Amino acid sequence: MHPHVEKILLSEEQIKERVYQLGQEITKDYQDKDILVVGILKGAMIFLADLVRNIEVPTFFDFMAVSSYGAGTVSSGAVRILKDLDKSIEGKHVIIVEDIVDTGLTLQYLVENMKARGPASLKICTLLDKPSRRKVDVTVDYNGFSIPDEFVVGYGLDFNERYRNLPYIAVLKPEIYRG
Ligand code: XMP
Ligand code: MG
Repeated sequence: MHPHVEKILLSEEQIKERVYQLGQEITKDYQDKDILVVGILKGAMIFLADLVRNIEVPTFFDFMAVSSYGAGTVSSGAVRILKDLDKSIEGKHVIIVEDIVDTGLTLQYLVENMKARGPASLKICTLLDKPSRRKVDVTVDYNGFSIPDEFVVGYGLDFNERYRNLPYIAVLKPEIYRG
């Protein structure tokens, strides 16, 4: 275990099993369709990479990078596009792939933004959900795990850009968050 980690919330094995199940669900729901997966950088990168290898219908990728104003562990709700999609999503079956839904403000913005581009369908897949923190109503179609209100890192998720490469989801020691 990494010396900065206080506890592992979700092990590699738990994540692997759940990501496999999500891939199976998506495969079942999109029989005879092509999927365009839109990964939200950078947090969803590792989840997306594992998820798509468990999807058995034709799957295309695009990426968006967004930032909520302000650093640290709280989301402000104001969203800025750092990198937009490469191509039009009009008429495509789009699945937004996110690392975590917290207040829901980022996803609310993304859903409004993408709906305006005329996809054939639009669904949301997130690895993690913190339902207790929700401020706006967003419909999550595929959720890996609901977790308590703790700031987590690993498997793509960061604290000040660190710990993304940990293979599990963990909570750091309090002194690390204090900096
Ligand atoms: P909202 O509040 O807009 O937030 O739903 C979504 C974004 O906030 C970040 N976030 C976290 N990042 N560990 C992280 O590494 C967490 O526990 C956490 N909670 C929220 C994340 O970037 C997400 O896309
Ligand atoms: Mg982050």
